[in-house]
Amino acid sequence: MTFIDSHSHLYLEEFSADLPQVIERAKLAGVSRVLLPNIDSSTIKDMLRVADAYPGYCYPMIGVHPTSIKESFEEELQRVEDELSSGRSYIAIGEIGLDLYWDKTFLKEQLIAFDKQIQLALKYHLPVAIHSRDAFDELYAALLPYKDTELKGVFHSFTGSEAEVLKLLAFEGFMLGINGVVTFKNSTLWQVLSAVPLTRLLLETDAPYLTPVPYRGKRNESAYLRYTLHKLSEVYQKSIEEVARATTENTVRVFGEGVSKV
Ligand code: NI
Repeated sequence: MTFIDSHSHLYLEEFSADLPQVIERAKLAGVSRVLLPNIDSSTIKDMLRVADAYPGYCYPMIGVHPTSIKESFEEELQRVEDELSSGRSYIAIGEIGLDLYWDKTFLKEQLIAFDKQIQLALKYHLPVAIHSRDAFDELYAALLPYKDTELKGVFHSFTGSEAEVLKLLAFEGFMLGINGVVTFKNSTLWQVLSAVPLTRLLLETDAPYLTPVPYRGKRNESAYLRYTLHKLSEVYQKSIEEVARATTENTVRVFGEGVSKV
């Protein structure tokens, strides 16, 4: 049985001391692939170094995270375009989106950057990994013009209401990325999932963040994805193997056959 970590920042300094062991534990736990969402121009080099060290196992994305959208956002976007036209292979545009939790100062710029990166996704026929925090209405409005396009992707780290989930599921090419949050004792995400068929879920860690119980508070790593998988197997009352198989198929549907080769 194998499954895919569709969102993991294994290139951050939290892993610089023991990445080979982290990868080894991921493989032993059953993680068959790890997708690496970029953050901004400062992380590309480290991300590509990890992707090159583990070819066929770690797949890089390219994009600018909304919390990195500031005065110099146009240079950040240019770097994304340069990478896309460089011939280097990227599996998706990510992570991109809107984040109004930390700071609303650059909302206008965040909206411009989000739209621009969606257009790049369409131009290069790539899926998008979308981050949204305290910005559901703005995000929904920004995505609506693309509802009937070929745009596909994942709403990464989904934590919203049932009404919100239904609005997002109407985007047929999109999945919800579920991580350790679903294992938190105070989370009601598992209830919201009753509105979500298993055909629309992806597994992700968002490592080094959002560590599942029983390691909550510690550094997250891809091997811990099995705790999220176990929780989903309880929530859906399906076997662990079935949830692993379904989420792997869903990941291939969004990110392409490239992530399915064994
Ligand atoms: Ni992330």
